[in-house]
Amino acid sequence: MTANSLTDRHRANPTKLRGVVYTPPRLAEFLASQAFGALGESTSIRILDPACGDGQLLLAAYSAARARNITVDEVVGYDIDRTAVDKASIRLSDVPRTTLICGDFLELTARSQGPMDLFDTTHEHEYLNFDLVVSNPPYVRTQTLGASVSSSLGERFGLTGRVDLYQAFVVAMIQALAPGGALGLLCSNKFLTNRAGASLRRVLLDELQLDEIVDLGDSKLFDVAVLPVVVSGTRANGVQKARPIDFRSVYEVKGKVDGFGRPISVLDALSKQRDGIIHDGNRSFLIRRGCLDRGAGSSSLWNPMDPETKKTFETIRESDVSELGVFGKVRVGVKTTADSIFIRSDWRELPRKQHPEPELLRPLLTHRDIQPWSAEPGQRQILYPHRDEGGRAVAVNLANFPKTAAYLNNYRDRFGGSSLRN
Ligand SMILES: C[S@@+](CC[C@H](N)C(=O)[O-])C[C@H]1O[C@@H](n2cnc3c(N)ncnc32)[C@H](O)[C@@H]1O
Repeated sequence: MTANSLTDRHRANPTKLRGVVYTPPRLAEFLASQAFGALGESTSIRILDPACGDGQLLLAAYSAARARNITVDEVVGYDIDRTAVDKASIRLSDVPRTTLICGDFLELTARSQGPMDLFDTTHEHEYLNFDLVVSNPPYVRTQTLGASVSSSLGERFGLTGRVDLYQAFVVAMIQALAPGGALGLLCSNKFLTNRAGASLRRVLLDELQLDEIVDLGDSKLFDVAVLPVVVSGTRANGVQKARPIDFRSVYEVKGKVDGFGRPISVLDALSKQRDGIIHDGNRSFLIRRGCLDRGAGSSSLWNPMDPETKKTFETIRESDVSELGVFGKVRVGVKTTADSIFIRSDWRELPRKQHPEPELLRPLLTHRDIQPWSAEPGQRQILYPHRDEGGRAVAVNLANFPKTAAYLNNYRDRFGGSSLRN
């Protein structure tokens, strides 16, 4: 699984290239209701999804408007995929005043940002003036886009660093909003906590009056390899009010957990403003509620700061105790998105030909192994098919690790590719 072979497979795969994973209906409903939560009093609105796929989000937004007695003047969807647009037109056949366009939305915004042409009869400048923009924009990794596409997107949309396609879309979505118009965005949560996301965090803070961030973490609400977040807010109209930005996060709690009531789905719990531990019938989750630390600008990472955590930090800072960051760099640990494949305590029990080469198996230290003043790694080891190259993790060439390749091949369906090279 060299970095190149993975990227080549993504490039050769139209689904990966266009970042196509449609939003399931219940999540679409949640996203729409978050967007309406941000929107102020409105009697009539125009709705846009700039990458509408099969139209599920547009339908959810339209239904949410009707449920709130808001008149919908127009529903507009763009997608570059003709088949998706055809599916959307069937799904939205009962929705009046719907316009679905097969086209590249980024091209359209780029044209609309250019100098005004007096003879332009398309009225695109005025057209991009929506009251509600909802989207789960295409997620295409920088590596799949290629460096030159990524940097030209960065230039075009005022973003720096490693620009992913969804980041360019977020800027384009904001540009398509009327002042005071509301955004409901579903995308990868990576930008919250990585350096490459700093530029997007700046855009969101500068251009929007953010209403709420809901980090859906590892709740696995739909079939994507990345962890999703829902961001809602309105296009800033002059000076932004310094009010707290709500921030909730949902992460699975493993092991025995007491104290939850009747089973409830994650989205129902979020919609009902429940927090703490919940159980969905199969798994337990911790829903944390807090605020985005206002001191945290675009350069700091975005995490929910609940009142208790805030107090703990204040106490630590007032005392003589040093924070961990004084002793070393605090970094995000490994995210496998397939823990059961990469983390095991029974590697030795696998058939010999599939027992990964020892140099790729590393001891694993998690929060569960840490006690005050001591850290004892447990039995589990992580398969880490990377090597360190000047501080950067580089994927190893599996041709040199045939047993690891044989093991990972068992799960090739989970990785969404054809057989791994070995
Ligand atoms: C992650 S899917 C989401 C679809 C839909 N919004 C939903 O939530 O179910 C992303 C969609 O973006 C479309 N897409 C990719 N690049 C695009 C572009 N430049 N302009 C418009 N649509 C694009 C893909 O064809 C795909 O249908």
